[in-house]
Amino acid sequence: MVCLGNICRSPLAEGVLQDKACKAGLSWNIESAGTNGYHIGEPPHPLSVKVAKAHGINISDQRSRKFIAEDFDKYDMIYAMAGDVLDDIERISRNKFDPSKVDLFLNELYPGQNRDVPDPWYGPEQGYHDVYAIIDQVCECILKKHLTIINE
Ligand code: 4NP
Repeated sequence: MVCLGNICRSPLAEGVLQDKACKAGLSWNIESAGTNGYHIGEPPHPLSVKVAKAHGINISDQRSRKFIAEDFDKYDMIYAMAGDVLDDIERISRNKFDPSKVDLFLNELYPGQNRDVPDPWYGPEQGYHDVYAIIDQVCECILKKHLTIINE
């Protein structure tokens, strides 16, 4: 799960998908990272922590890190929260970039539409609630798709 700062959107996506995977009995290793590196070592934004906590998910122990090219070696799938993040991922990864392993997160819910998860960083608390709802829907979709594929 990758966004710009790794403090607002992607920590929520990590927390929500990890929670759903655990509850489904899947031992998935979900992590998140940011492309701008401005907040390395910091915990998620207090409003992301608050909104996750309201849904029973603790993301307060996460720490921001920068996305690195080697993430393409480590992970089966890399989701970019927005188009600018996808461009950054391609630039950072150089020859490690593997288009078969990367997609815009919202394309799981709206295939081919290339929509962005809005960045709540610049706005009020409601933005964090709105983003949580979007992320929850997408994570549910990712999990259902996986369970459908393995049960076919
Ligand atoms: P995020 O939001 O990418 O969802 O973590 C942002 C947080 C910080 C900044 C940009 C976006 N920033 O430029 O510091």
